[in-house]
Amino acid sequence: MLLNIVKRHPYNGHMSEIVATREGAILTLSINRPAKMNALTRAMYGELAKGLNEAAGDFALRCVVITSEGDHFTAGNDIKDFMDNPPTDEDSDVGVFLGALLNFPKPLIAAVKGNAVGVGTTMLLHCDVVVASPTANFSMPFTSLGLVPEAGSSFLFPQLVGYQRAAKIFFTGEAFGADEAKEMGLVASIAPDAYGEAMKIAQQIATQPPQAIINTKALLKARQHDSVAAVMRAEFQLFAMALQSDEAMEAFMNFMAARGKK
Ligand code: COA
Repeated sequence: MLLNIVKRHPYNGHMSEIVATREGAILTLSINRPAKMNALTRAMYGELAKGLNEAAGDFALRCVVITSEGDHFTAGNDIKDFMDNPPTDEDSDVGVFLGALLNFPKPLIAAVKGNAVGVGTTMLLHCDVVVASPTANFSMPFTSLGLVPEAGSSFLFPQLVGYQRAAKIFFTGEAFGADEAKEMGLVASIAPDAYGEAMKIAQQIATQPPQAIINTKALLKARQHDSVAAVMRAEFQLFAMALQSDEAMEAFMNFMAARGKK
């Protein structure tokens, strides 16, 4: 289904809940499920991975921008999907998405507004430039859900902010805003029109010699690539086990019950 749409309308197809738009050498992937605060389902991870992998192999594309429709970036993994379709290994859609993120060879820019929960924050650790709106609110409430950090964040986040600050944020699940994220180095800049600013940066990058950009990104990431891949594998094993735990089930049921779901 997805393949057919992409063949007929390369990159400008309405990829269900991920909208892919090509503007010159820049591909925008926009998370589009605002009624559920852009919570990510298995299918959406699959579409994001497909968009990234196609962009990686398309010489004419120089840069990808990840953004969202509505007022929020994403509320993270869809909780019902966690219960109905728990990912069990790295070949699952979320695993393929995380692999595509880790290995994406071109500049990846994110424009973040509103809530960026769970993977909504951890995916930013793989982006090359993050622009946040003043409304951005970041959180990684894995432990509150009976889960563990993912997407390499148990390695990348303490590396970015220091061990104790990372431990406090992971252990308490506390959120932080755009100013703190900028001070941490999780975001490069804050702009009321985060997407407009991200596109400006992408356009600037797109005028640069493309092979020099790809080689520079490879050098910037080289030191940590294999460590992150190994940490992601370890996290995945623990995460898959945690999804089956009583702690996680109770947290998921509480989330559903509070919203009048079964
Ligand atoms: N999975 C599935 N649905 C989600 C969701 C998620 N992760 N996050 C939000 N939604 C849905 C809500 O069920 C609601 O839809 P409904 O009206 O059909 O029930 C809609 O999105 C709006 O969310 P709501 O909770 O009403 O908004 P809020 O402003 O009161 O709270 C949050 C915002 C982010 C604090 C809250 O939605 C939340 O905690 N979400 C779960 C975040 C999470 O734990 N993600 C997984 C991280 S690993």
